[in-house]
Amino acid sequence: MNKPRVLVKSCNEVPKVALNLLKSKYNVTAIESHCHARKEILEVIPEHDALFLPLPHTKVDKEFLNTAGIYSISGPNLKVIATLSVGYDHLDLAEIKKRGIKVGYSPCASSVAVAEIAIALILSAARRAHEGRLKLESGDVRRTFQWMVGYDLRGSTVGIVGFGNIGKAIFKRLQGFEVGQFLYTGHSRKEDGDDLGAKFVSLDELLEKSDFIVVATPLNSETFEMFCYESFAKMKKNAVFVNVGRGKVVKTNDLVKALKNNTIFAAGLDVTDPEPLPIDHELLKLTNAVILPHLGSATVKTREDMAMIAAQNIINGLEGKPLPYPL
Ligand code: DGY
Repeated sequence: MNKPRVLVKSCNEVPKVALNLLKSKYNVTAIESHCHARKEILEVIPEHDALFLPLPHTKVDKEFLNTAGIYSISGPNLKVIATLSVGYDHLDLAEIKKRGIKVGYSPCASSVAVAEIAIALILSAARRAHEGRLKLESGDVRRTFQWMVGYDLRGSTVGIVGFGNIGKAIFKRLQGFEVGQFLYTGHSRKEDGDDLGAKFVSLDELLEKSDFIVVATPLNSETFEMFCYESFAKMKKNAVFVNVGRGKVVKTNDLVKALKNNTIFAAGLDVTDPEPLPIDHELLKLTNAVILPHLGSATVKTREDMAMIAAQNIINGLEGKPLPYPL
């Protein structure tokens, strides 16, 4: 019997352990990461049973599926798609599932790494790391008593927007900082929220009371641009706004305005809209914004774990078993 065929995007960047696992079971077609990857995938995907999708995200929507000639269950072979990400806003799930294709993602694997980036951003934004570096570079170091003072986590109120795996991992990692109070908001109260020591509040209450607002929510129709100028205006003047979820959860121009006119104190962003930010973007000119190019899950171990989960999603999908992490 012919072995199933698996299309692996960006194969040159896929951890060997996952690639070898797939190769040991299937015929693997490898596409190296480059700017024409989408076109190349489209050309060959109908001959494949599974699609393994690492970063950068390839949009799989109606247009993609139609162009590839994948219309229905009885059509070409594609049975399973595995994205190496916790976010899946690049996948049109309804369209994919309509065609009988299973979809897996890699939650949990990146929670710790993303939480660590959140902590790095909280501390750097609150302690003006970017501004300090700029001052050093321009020879403007004064070191007077009140020069470059920032804010403590100790005794503060931290509000987490999205208390899922990542939100909880952030909460857990903040335990040693003597935070005064933890608030969280999201769809609903979490069963373990109170036991953990975090209070469920409305978004407005969280915005009004928090010194640190940390966003760890996925992007969907409810969260799209949920942070606009009105939201920033509700925050405290000393508020530090951190986003490790998705850039489009924030209206970028409104955040720029809030940072420019000191409506809030600072921001730490691992995700932005657009992504990547053009080099002349307003956000990059602000001294009170610490910005990273979406590095949340970028650690050697995390990327390996994500790849192994995706490989297992593919294996189970092709063997007709439930995916370990289905969407
Ligand atoms: C994820 O896993 O969703 C990361 O943000 C990479 O996109």
